Amino acid sequence: MNRKKILVTGGAGFIGGNFVQYMVNKYYNYDIYNLDLLTYAGDLTKHHIIQNKSNYHFIKADIADSEAINILFSQEKFDFVVHFAAESHVDRSITDPEVFVRTNVLGTQVLLDAAKQAGISKFIHVSTDEVYGELEFDPTTYFSEDTPLQPSSPYSASKAASDLLVHAYNKTYGLPINITRCSNNYGPYHFPEKLIPLTISRILNGQKVPVYGDGKNIRDWLHVNDHCTAIDLVMHEGVNGEVYNVGGHNERTNLEVVKTIIKTLGKSEELIDFVEDRLGHDKRYAIDPTKLVNLGWKPTYTFDTGIAQTIQWYLDNQEWWGQIISGEYQNYFHKQYFR
Ligand code: NAD
Ligand code: TYD
Repeated sequence: MNRKKILVTGGAGFIGGNFVQYMVNKYYNYDIYNLDLLTYAGDLTKHHIIQNKSNYHFIKADIADSEAINILFSQEKFDFVVHFAAESHVDRSITDPEVFVRTNVLGTQVLLDAAKQAGISKFIHVSTDEVYGELEFDPTTYFSEDTPLQPSSPYSASKAASDLLVHAYNKTYGLPINITRCSNNYGPYHFPEKLIPLTISRILNGQKVPVYGDGKNIRDWLHVNDHCTAIDLVMHEGVNGEVYNVGGHNERTNLEVVKTIIKTLGKSEELIDFVEDRLGHDKRYAIDPTKLVNLGWKPTYTFDTGIAQTIQWYLDNQEWWGQIISGEYQNYFHKQYFR
């Protein structure tokens, strides 16, 4: 089989990191290039097992740096780009929106331009269900691929803008693309600023857990491994130009999620601390994944099996998140290409 070169952006982050490991271990005939700027959210220690594998490569670069990106694309002939790199935390986007526009919008445009010039086989843009805005608390309504884009936060607005650019490069220049829009992920190596890893790590540190507002907001949770298999499928079988929603029908209120973690860890619900609500807080997300299921995708985790595995992973890997929380963390093992 022909060797292929896959550029994965944001492969030092949570989902991109899990995807890089999945691809390096699954496809020996693919060379996986992990391109990442190593912001606060990027960490290469997670790749200690694959870092010496011959089909894994790391490039430190900024996706919004057009000079660096164009040099890279002139040196390496990539077959696919799988684009995860982004600023990803809603709370940070509320206090500091500018970097979200730079990375998520400008960075995506720089990559699209380089991919267009290079004539790659396909650009897979990893987006989010948050571009659709919020649903009411009506269990019969879901986001479909045709739901209008109505983002609420600077984060989701910047992701929606990037989705529109990807669509435009397909329509105007004929760049082959797919867009995936996944619900909230959880699992190993989730950065402990997001609800699930924050809850687990704070409980294990004997701290209270902040729940925004009344805790009744609903998210649709998917284990990160199931997101990886979805992207793999879309990369190989997705129809050019199409959007695919990714979700496994695991809707839970935030309070249910926090209580499940507290119960699993054998602690008291007195740890719950109701705090001021997030500005513009979306009420509910829920995905209709029918289009992706018809393409052949099936999730393997229920929320119950996935959260149990995840809590155990955080118990077994306290050193990893402890380093991140304590700020003592350093990035290891990286090779700098451009500086
Ligand atoms: P993350 O914050 O954990 O990781 C982002 C990665 O991108 C980090 O490694 C960071 O160093 C890198 N990065 C940031 N700016 C960069 C730049 N300018 N150049 C190069 N690299 C840069 O994010 P995540 O949770 O893994 O999300 C990955 C993607 O999946 C994002 O595009 C996000 O919108 C999307 N997504 C996330 C979720 C979720 O629940 N986390 C759900 C659906 C979709
Ligand atoms: P988060 O993990 O930040 O993901 P997103 O905002 O992309 O959905 O938040 C998930 C939900 O949990 C969201 O409704 C906000 C809420 N939340 C809290 O109640 N407390 C917290 O400390 C955090 C980080 C989030």
